[in-house]
Amino acid sequence: MAILKIARMGHPVLLQKAEVVSDPGSEEIRRLARDMIETMHDANGVGLAAPQVHVPLRLFVFRVPPERTSGDPDDQAVELRVLMNPEVEPVGSDVRLRWEGCLSIPGLRGAVARPWRVRYRGIDLEGNEVTAEVTGLHAGVVQHENDHLDGILYPMRMRDFRLFGFTEELARFATPEQRP
Ligand code: NI
Repeated sequence: MAILKIARMGHPVLLQKAEVVSDPGSEEIRRLARDMIETMHDANGVGLAAPQVHVPLRLFVFRVPPERTSGDPDDQAVELRVLMNPEVEPVGSDVRLRWEGCLSIPGLRGAVARPWRVRYRGIDLEGNEVTAEVTGLHAGVVQHENDHLDGILYPMRMRDFRLFGFTEELARFATPEQRP
């Protein structure tokens, strides 16, 4: 197990389109996933995509902490999930603004409008196909991490840069509707 170095915004690996994982069950991929889980927990993040640790492969890990779920029945806590070669599609037309942060953009948060409900599929570490239809934080994290696989960082999805700032300053000065 190892804690990996996280690429920060400005590093070109974060703008690359990642490659399909061709050997999901291999020891190399299992080790990468284990190290990414350890790195995510060490950094206190809820998600981490392989390009963020300088590996341009279509793989991410995430969790949905119980205290951050929305209360929606399709937004349940998830202790940990590894997803490879994911496909994500919006369900319905409900788009909501949610605050996001990113381990590659430390100290900052921004409000991003994304589909509230998505359906996704992918392969887990055991090689099994995973499918789910989710909302809230779960849907937001999956979309954010999936974007990393296409070289997209959350500020590239933002429309209102007044809703972008340092977490500490937002907590001090933001109006209630701007507050993360
Ligand atoms: Ni991120």
